[in-house]
Amino acid sequence: MIFIFTMFYIFTVTGVESEMGVETAEPVETSEQVEMTESKYPGLHLETLTASTEKYIYAIHSIKTDHPNLTDAIQSWIDGNKKQFINEAKENTVLDLTATLHIDLETTPISDSAYNLIFSKHEKIGDANGINEKKLFTINIEEGKIYKLADFIEETDENKADLTQIILEKIAADEALNAEIIETELLATLADFDNLEWAITDEALIFYWNEYEIAAGSAGVIRLELPFDDIKHLINEKGYELLQLEFVPNADDTDVIARPEREPFDPDGKYVALTFDDGPHQTVTALILDTLNDFDAKGTFFMLGNQIDYYPSLVQRVAEEGHEIGSHTETHPDLSKVDGARIKKEFEATNERMHKIIGRYPTVFRPPYGAYNEEVMTYATNYKQPVIMWSVDSLDWKTRNAAEIYTEIVNGTTNGSIILMHDIHEETAEALPIVLNKLKNEGYSFVTVSQLLEWRETPEIGPHFGTYKK
Ligand code: NI
Repeated sequence: MIFIFTMFYIFTVTGVESEMGVETAEPVETSEQVEMTESKYPGLHLETLTASTEKYIYAIHSIKTDHPNLTDAIQSWIDGNKKQFINEAKENTVLDLTATLHIDLETTPISDSAYNLIFSKHEKIGDANGINEKKLFTINIEEGKIYKLADFIEETDENKADLTQIILEKIAADEALNAEIIETELLATLADFDNLEWAITDEALIFYWNEYEIAAGSAGVIRLELPFDDIKHLINEKGYELLQLEFVPNADDTDVIARPEREPFDPDGKYVALTFDDGPHQTVTALILDTLNDFDAKGTFFMLGNQIDYYPSLVQRVAEEGHEIGSHTETHPDLSKVDGARIKKEFEATNERMHKIIGRYPTVFRPPYGAYNEEVMTYATNYKQPVIMWSVDSLDWKTRNAAEIYTEIVNGTTNGSIILMHDIHEETAEALPIVLNKLKNEGYSFVTVSQLLEWRETPEIGPHFGTYKK
């Protein structure tokens, strides 16, 4: 819930200065009235500055906090505007027009200690066009801190590109606004987060651009609200913390736990998990599915998020035929070398795409290159996806030779092995029938990774290497 507190100021012109008779250009500052009142938010003290002279009138609403640094930063913005206004008003030669400056303040709480301060400045001097501007401060009065956008959205090229895309789409959807925007100017402001005026709530990230900044003046101040749902994948954990939102994946339990059913385990059985990475691939994945069917085998496919939209019916076939679908990230980065926001996005984007296609989320996760760190584990835990490594590497990606793939797998496999293959190489599809034939003759059954973990009674989040021997 968002409470919005707006102060409306009613200004009355008393004409105090004019009673002093003919004026020299003197001492406008002395006419300033300062009034302090408490706001309804503890620690935020409202300050109203007013002055009325022959040359100008101003009414400024501002705020003081118990943190000098915070107060100074806000004050310095107010003072700068006030001084410039007074100087320009004094130089104004259109005598019959009193210059006016109003700065209004809207305060929206984010949490018990964090607030968005939204200043609206309206200035008119002489017969020039008026100026309308917004200035935003997002502050924490306990820490005495002014937040930067980069505190919540890591300022990476990817995040910038993603945010830019979301903003462009939002603008494109608004025909009237779209017609006004000068895209090169907009893109220039997005190049550096420090250029942006923004506010954040648990419902939206709101951007403001001043008059003439990214559009013709007729467009006025532009306010663009990006619903939180559209940008939450960009927000880091600190942002979630600030918004007092629990960091939870989009998955709910019922969706996550919809793993393929298993045959009852044979207490004396030998089980291995066949795993296939980097797909789906139009022809190779289909061939592999045919082979698995022939051997009554179940496998686990660690799919790439950026591949699955190309072959939705293949993804559905994998799920329908009782195989397990895992996530292998969206774009196959080395997760040990990227930041937390990226890791989150790699999980989330794949989860979302998969959910759209098969109505549930991936149940297991395999990090590209087998590279993971504590942060990866945290997200894997949040998404309830055990991190699955392997104990047998078919080296199919290296040898690209069916006979050698066969030898690697058959020589390496023991009871409880997790076997790594890639369903993007034809040689892998070629080797699979002879591999399965051999292993079947040795008494192995082929189960999904989750089934293997269940059989081993180690279904915790992981990581899992499949080194169990019975
Ligand atoms: Ni891979």
